[in-house]
Amino acid sequence: MDDLRQKYLDLIAGVADEAALEDLRVAAVGKKGEISLQMRELGRMTPEERQEAGPRLNALKDEINAALAAKKAGLADAALDERLRAEWLDVTLPARTRRQGTIHPVSQVTEELTAIFADMGFAVAEGPQVESDWFNFDALNIPAEHPTRTEMDTFYMHRDAGDDRPPHVLRTHTSPVQIRAMQANGAPIRVIAPGRVYRADYDQTHTPMFHQVEGLAIDRDLSMANLKWVLEEFCRAYFEVDHVELRFRASHFPFTEPSAEVDLRCSWEGGQLKVGEGDDWMEILGSGMVHPKVLQAAGIDPDQWQGFAFGMGIDRIAMLKYGIPDLRAFFESDLRWLRHYGFAALDQPTLHGGLSR
Ligand code: PHE
Repeated sequence: MDDLRQKYLDLIAGVADEAALEDLRVAAVGKKGEISLQMRELGRMTPEERQEAGPRLNALKDEINAALAAKKAGLADAALDERLRAEWLDVTLPARTRRQGTIHPVSQVTEELTAIFADMGFAVAEGPQVESDWFNFDALNIPAEHPTRTEMDTFYMHRDAGDDRPPHVLRTHTSPVQIRAMQANGAPIRVIAPGRVYRADYDQTHTPMFHQVEGLAIDRDLSMANLKWVLEEFCRAYFEVDHVELRFRASHFPFTEPSAEVDLRCSWEGGQLKVGEGDDWMEILGSGMVHPKVLQAAGIDPDQWQGFAFGMGIDRIAMLKYGIPDLRAFFESDLRWLRHYGFAALDQPTLHGGLSR
C-alpha cells in the first residue's frame, strides 16, 4: 500500500495539464482504478484483515483524492497566471510611440525667428494675404506705372466686367504689413510680420507661394547702424554661431532710402554651409531706411520719426540652415520628406532651451 501511495503521489506531482490529471484520477480512484480494485478485495478478506486494511485503504483513497484536488487547483492557478501575463496591458504607456506628424521646417523657422526678434523687443504683426493694390504698392511708394509692379509677377484677383476699381492682389511681399502696423499703432513701433506671399514663378528656388518675414522699427533717432546690429544679432542667434559678418550692398527699393541688400559671409566647402567663415557671400535679405513717403502714407510724420525695414525669405533661410536642397519639396506634403526634415512637436524653439537641438 505504501508503494501504491508513493507511485500516485509521484505521478500527480509530475502532471503538466488538466487532461493528464484526469487520466491519472481514473487510473487511481476511478471505478476500475487501481485503488478502487484494491477496495473490492476487502470483501474477500477475513474480518480481522479487513479491520486492519479497510481504514488504511480509505485513508489512502482520501489522500490521493486530496492530492488530485490540490494539483487541479494549482494547474488552474498557473493557467490563469499565464493568461493574465499574455493579456497584460500597461495603460500608463504613451498612446503613440511612432513619430508620425512633425513640425514643418517653415513653422519651425518661423518660431525660431519669432523667439529671436521677440528677445530684441519686436512684436508680431499680421496682414491679409489678399491685399488691396494700395497697401501692396501705392502706400509703399510704388506708383501705377512703376516697373516693380510687373517685375514682381503679381497674381491679380478677379473683378467683374465693368468694375473699374483696381483689382486686389495676392500680396507679393510682407511689406504692406508695415503700413497696416503703423496705421494701427503709430510710432514708435517695433514689429516683425512673418507670412505667406505670392509671385508667379516656379523653379528649384521659386514657388508661387513662399514665406517672408518683414521687420520694421520706427523711433526718433534710428539709423542704419541699428539695422546692422539687429541683423547681425539675428544671424548669430539664428545660425547658432558665435561670429557672423554681414556685407551691405547698395541697392534699390521704392520703399526704402537708402536701400541695401545684405550678404552673409559663408563657405560652401564640401557642399556644407558654414556661416561666418570662408570667401563666399550669400544674399539673405533686402533692407533700408523707411522712405519718408511710406511714413506719410501710414500717417506718421517723417520730420519726427524715422527707422529701418527689412524683408527676408523664410523658406530660403530654412533651406540654408537645415541643408534642404529643393524649395518645391516644401509644399508637396510628402510624408517621407516631412519625417526627414520635420521637427518633433514638443521641441519648442526658445533662446534659453536652444533653437534647433
Ligand atoms: N519687400 C522686399 C521684397 O520682397 C524686401 C524688402 C523689405 C526690402 C523691406 C526692403 C525693406 O523683395
